Amino acid sequence: MSPADLVMQSYGRCCASPTFFDDFYRSFLDSSPQIRAKFAETDMPAQKLLLRQGILNLVMYARGMSDSKLRALGESHSRGRLDIRPELYDLWLDALLLTVSGHDKQFNESIRSAWREVLNKGISVIKAGY
Ligand code: HEM
Repeated sequence: MSPADLVMQSYGRCCASPTFFDDFYRSFLDSSPQIRAKFAETDMPAQKLLLRQGILNLVMYARGMSDSKLRALGESHSRGRLDIRPELYDLWLDALLLTVSGHDKQFNESIRSAWREVLNKGISVIKAGY
């Protein structure tokens, strides 16, 4: 199975787990005061729904979809708008992998490296917009 297919299936199992997005944001917000500050005014239930689609866009990009959705995210997260510094994506990725490992009952090392590969590809498009 391709890395993108492994991730798609793993993500399906995560989305079926009721607290996946709550646990992700708990871990991500706990990873740095800088990150917590960025979400101080955010409607978190709405943000969780937006991220559900955002992760899907990263996976679809790895499966060959155009980069236009990710370039739009690059623009919203850029210096002049949300101002998300590129190094913060490392914390995002660590929090996500930690959460996936706790929710995907079939999680193993090849699934972990598939997630890293698939997400890094799309994250570089977003970071390039900074
Ligand atoms: C908003 C996805 C990384 C902070 C959003 C939105 C999406 C999204 C879909 C809402 C739509 C938009 O504003 O364009 C993602 C994805 C990421 C990522 C897929 C990783 C690849 C980050 C990181 C931070 C961050 C590393 C660092 C703190 C924010 C903030 C908002 C936001 C502050 C606005 C929240 C609000 O409306 O108050 N993100 N994001 N994001 N993101 Fe991200």
